[in-house]
Amino acid sequence: MARALVFQQLFEPESSTYTYLLADPATHEAVLIDPVAETVERDLKLAAELGLTLRYVIDTHVHADHVSAAGEIRRRTGARTGVSEHARVDCADLGLSDGQTLAFGAHTLTCIATPGHTDSCMSFLVGDRVFTGDALMIRGTGRTDFQQGSPDRLYDSITRKLFALPDDTLVYPAHDYRGLTSTSIGVEKRLNPRVGGGRTREQFREIMAGLKLADPKKIAVALPANLSCGGRAQTPVLTPHVIQDVPEVGIEDLKDRLTDVLLVDVRTPAEYNDVLGHLPGTLLKTLGPELDAFLDAASRVQEIVFVCRSGGRSREATRRALAQGFRAPRNLAGGMIAWNEARLPIVRDDPPL
Ligand SMILES: [Fe+2]
Repeated sequence: MARALVFQQLFEPESSTYTYLLADPATHEAVLIDPVAETVERDLKLAAELGLTLRYVIDTHVHADHVSAAGEIRRRTGARTGVSEHARVDCADLGLSDGQTLAFGAHTLTCIATPGHTDSCMSFLVGDRVFTGDALMIRGTGRTDFQQGSPDRLYDSITRKLFALPDDTLVYPAHDYRGLTSTSIGVEKRLNPRVGGGRTREQFREIMAGLKLADPKKIAVALPANLSCGGRAQTPVLTPHVIQDVPEVGIEDLKDRLTDVLLVDVRTPAEYNDVLGHLPGTLLKTLGPELDAFLDAASRVQEIVFVCRSGGRSREATRRALAQGFRAPRNLAGGMIAWNEARLPIVRDDPPL
């Protein structure tokens, strides 16, 4: 006989996010999945009303569309926070790995790595329920066009791992935008318009390539905050202004902080040593393949200020870094032109680093 489980599906309307509260009714130990900053008071009140002790607060992935409440709930309850070990979130208590289990009372939550929407997506299986985050959704899937997304990996995660679960397994995603609340593995195998009905990998790739989605409204705020556990565990030295979703700093903010951040100049080698010069201690990574290769390999947690001639190309570089999950990328507004106009020190004629 299945063990009794306290189960609550909670909703945050601005980002259409589902948060899940699960608990053992005998021991009162609880797990919270994907809590949202805006609804932290509601969730804590509910847990208290039900007499629950939060053991674990876990995220299915590093969300780009809302700020996670995991760090805040840890601070207020002593619960341990967890997210995939591949998420580069240094401040989480647990770096979760594929197959790892977390116990709460008589129940076990099993982590299933389901990358593809991001490289660090995890689904969580508890009894006959699976919490799929943004991997498998109700008649849909997560997008694969940023945050290390990969249609091939998502196709494998869904068809080889999630579809291998029993057909009557109930599926609870991180979001639904039409008011649906759950589905099942069997139903999605038949009806999912992207991966169900025997659709092939090639068909899935084509569907995903044709989506052309806008960036989530909160990406500039949510990604850096979630990579630092809600923004409370590590404090970047520069406070940016967010202009059209891109965090910017001015020359006044930066001039005394040059050695506290990583400076990346995205102009060409010729411009780097032209009359405008460059900032002391700058790396030259020209916008394009060179910058992209650098971003692929760089640590996501360092604070980076991107620089160019007037702030346009560095704005694009900042946008790319954000989409790749960097914690604190900033665009230097006005670029080297503003820097020179303020008569701040420049360097010229040294070889690009
Ligand atoms: Fe997501």
